[in-house]
Amino acid sequence: MEILTIPTKPIEGQKPGTSGLRKKTRTFMETHYLENFIQSIWNGIGGVDGKTLVLGGDGRYFSDRAAQVILRMAAASGAAKVIVGQGALLSTPAASNLIRKRGTDGGIILSASHNPGGPDEDFGVKFNTPNGGPAAETVVGRIFAATKEISEYRIVEAQDVDLETLGETTLGEMKIEVIDPVRDYADLMEQIFDFPAIRRLLDGGFRIAFDAMHAVTGPYAREILENRLGAKSGSVINARPKPDFGGGHPDPNPIWAEELVSLMSAEDAPDFGAASDGDGDRNMIMGPGRYVTPSDSVAVLAAHAHRAPAYENGLKGVARSMPTSRALDAVARKKGLDCFETPTGWKFFGNLLDDGRITICGEESAGTGSDHVREKDGLWAVLLWLNILAATDKSVDVLMNEHWADYGRNFYTRHDYEGVETGIADAMFDDLRAKLADLPGTEIAGRRVEAADEFAYTDPVDGSVAEHQGIRILFEGGGRIVYRLSGTGTQGATLRVYLEDETEDSARFGQDTQDALADIIAAADEIAGITEKTGRDEPDVRA
Ligand code: G6P
Ligand code: ZN
Repeated sequence: MEILTIPTKPIEGQKPGTSGLRKKTRTFMETHYLENFIQSIWNGIGGVDGKTLVLGGDGRYFSDRAAQVILRMAAASGAAKVIVGQGALLSTPAASNLIRKRGTDGGIILSASHNPGGPDEDFGVKFNTPNGGPAAETVVGRIFAATKEISEYRIVEAQDVDLETLGETTLGEMKIEVIDPVRDYADLMEQIFDFPAIRRLLDGGFRIAFDAMHAVTGPYAREILENRLGAKSGSVINARPKPDFGGGHPDPNPIWAEELVSLMSAEDAPDFGAASDGDGDRNMIMGPGRYVTPSDSVAVLAAHAHRAPAYENGLKGVARSMPTSRALDAVARKKGLDCFETPTGWKFFGNLLDDGRITICGEESAGTGSDHVREKDGLWAVLLWLNILAATDKSVDVLMNEHWADYGRNFYTRHDYEGVETGIADAMFDDLRAKLADLPGTEIAGRRVEAADEFAYTDPVDGSVAEHQGIRILFEGGGRIVYRLSGTGTQGATLRVYLEDETEDSARFGQDTQDALADIIAAADEIAGITEKTGRDEPDVRA
């Protein structure tokens, strides 16, 4: 088989963001674009000669062709073996599990997560290291450096590999193993959770609805929830993965998972509702007529995790990303657990998990997970919820109300301003930075500022420092504003404003979130001048 060495030049802008390199699909389809980035991954990690990799993704448009290119490039650079999910499918947590279980040298995940898919939508490529987690900043830095120096890439000339038939095949010298993308993951879930207890709950008439949003979790949820746990057939909706996710945003939030929300708002709503995103790492949890925020969800899971077999001896510690509400901190305080605050991005949990400092972690962006893999895990969160509901014999409503009674309620919302001109967004952050030192002690919208800073994180395990991770304004009495620019968008800047306040007054627990946060919301505009600078008087999204 002939190995071709193709001359190329660096392509501007191949800098991975919060979660891999994410661009418009058409950009990835441009000449050399994908090839340059893949070769830069190989170059950045010291080559793939003799290595074994995992490959799969969320099945979005262009994944099938990208997978063939990656296989040809792995073969050309001497990889020993690639383990591929059938049809090039693997959910992100399933890929993480395979990398760990098979002891491979890492893997490539083809996904732009919850972003829409299709020729005019988004595509993404992410490299995960042998621990199963997204490459850490240092590795990402080496890959980015390689994209700026690349002068050639290597690829074999060959026909497409059959990725539909399970079993072993070869491409030149390289072995390819096409595996069932679901089985190992489903087996892992069965080890972690009390499946018989969940099965009894479902047999007893407890009804669930899981919205796979036409994305990768469809086959996983069918196998686990319907086949192995006995949920009624049809409990999993939108279960067939489609290259364009049925034209929707495969993002499990109340706006995009509207089908689930309307099911859960109906008179005869199921007892439990959940959804996951494009690549299966995010989750949304609902009870009848009730949405559980991701920040509350991770707090509830941490409080009750010991009810699942894998966590029965308690947790080593917990962590949340900085903008995530501090509901988790309240649980950690009561249970005497360490609670780490990391920058946004799952990769920052990796060292804490590897070093055994934490067991459970989560982010406001609908991500929750544990040390079972090194990615957030949508179905894992759903199963832990079901395990807890089965073990306590309580409804989502009762569990949430009891949680607030025990730990207080953290009102929490995120306001997103999308497609802001980059120059305007950057100038806003410069102005904010310049102001930070003067804010403490001042009163804004009736609230007194206690502290203000720009968040920087020193990793307690390897000492690495991540700077400019968001601007925080803390108010007396527990209120907080965080300003951050999204690292996952593909167009302009997305300004994220995270707003939080806390109360232990049970008379306020039922209050509407936006109402409860009205003064903090007003203060956020006053401090940053959002309306004035962007010309927008309303966010595009209130999450
Ligand atoms: C991805 C990452 C998450 C992160 C989220 C939000 O989903 O995997 O870890 O929290 O993006 O990122 P953004 O930079 O858009 O706020
Ligand atoms: Zn995702």
